[in-house]
Amino acid sequence: MRQSNATYRYYAYGRQALVEALGLANVLPGDEVLVPALICKDVLSSIHTVGAKPVFYQVNKSLAPVSLPHASLIKAVIAVNYFGFPQDLEPFFDYCNKFSVKLIEDNAHGYLSANIDGVLLGNRAPLGITSIRKTIRIPDGARLHVSDTQLSEVIPTQLPLSDEPLGARYFLQNKFSKAERLTRLPILRWVRAIVRLRRFLSTGEFITTSTTLAETDVVVPVGPRHSSMKKIQELDEQDEAKRRTELYSRVSSALDKSKITPVHGRLPENCTPYGFPFFGDSETAKDVQRIVNGFGVEVIRWPDLPEAVLADAPDHYSNLWLVNFL
Ligand SMILES: Cc1ncc(COP(=O)(O)O)c(C=O)c1O
Repeated sequence: MRQSNATYRYYAYGRQALVEALGLANVLPGDEVLVPALICKDVLSSIHTVGAKPVFYQVNKSLAPVSLPHASLIKAVIAVNYFGFPQDLEPFFDYCNKFSVKLIEDNAHGYLSANIDGVLLGNRAPLGITSIRKTIRIPDGARLHVSDTQLSEVIPTQLPLSDEPLGARYFLQNKFSKAERLTRLPILRWVRAIVRLRRFLSTGEFITTSTTLAETDVVVPVGPRHSSMKKIQELDEQDEAKRRTELYSRVSSALDKSKITPVHGRLPENCTPYGFPFFGDSETAKDVQRIVNGFGVEVIRWPDLPEAVLADAPDHYSNLWLVNFL
């Protein structure tokens, strides 16, 4: 992997790193931020926190922008490396040069992933973020990347790390996940089903319903736990990247004859995938879960779309699933 000159700061969550990135991009109250419509609500809460408004651009079935609209209030544009696959940044660089706005590389999904030249994702734009906790099973841990030398001089200082331990939930999940990989039984999914049933019996709801409030939640940056940072440092990165790339080919072969449409034809060189993304309806996703049960992985729908996008969302936004390799 190529050496990078990026300066890093660590936070509990990616959305907190994004608040800092927006601040460094000089996004002020009343400004606008260009963001893909295929996005989760957490990203909108970061934009809302700095007092800015999202302006959406659409992405096609390859998850690349259809076009990048311009408006005078837009001060930053967010490009997303969906599922750890490198987004082609050329159209974004052109846009940013033309209109003098800052590019933020949202690499929430792509810890350990690099582009074909070996450049770590998150380090390709002046500003980037990575949600490490999506790749390693830890309760918190995210990173702000500042590759622009001028901006790295004004980067906020590292916030204090918290002394909170990893917690019982972390240990149980880790144990169940290990047992799942050994026994090839979907133990974690069974445990989750029991938790949901208990929630249903006490609240009447199977899953916690996220309301529109989540998009306007105020995000307060805090440092991650010492214990999470220790897990990040202890990770055998090569081993984890290998596990993920091998899992990608196994899942890809197992789904070869199924009804799904993979988002990507093949895994690009140096890519460490967050999972195996595919398009399909809910029934197909259930079939996929049955097929991959023995791999100790779970099929999830992504993203929980923003309210403003939901009403007119094209099929490829609503039918997007991920075999999650966490
Ligand atoms: C594309 C993207 N960006 C940013 C975030 C925020 O990351 P975190 O959940 O660590 O705040 C997410 C979370 O799902 C995401 O999917």
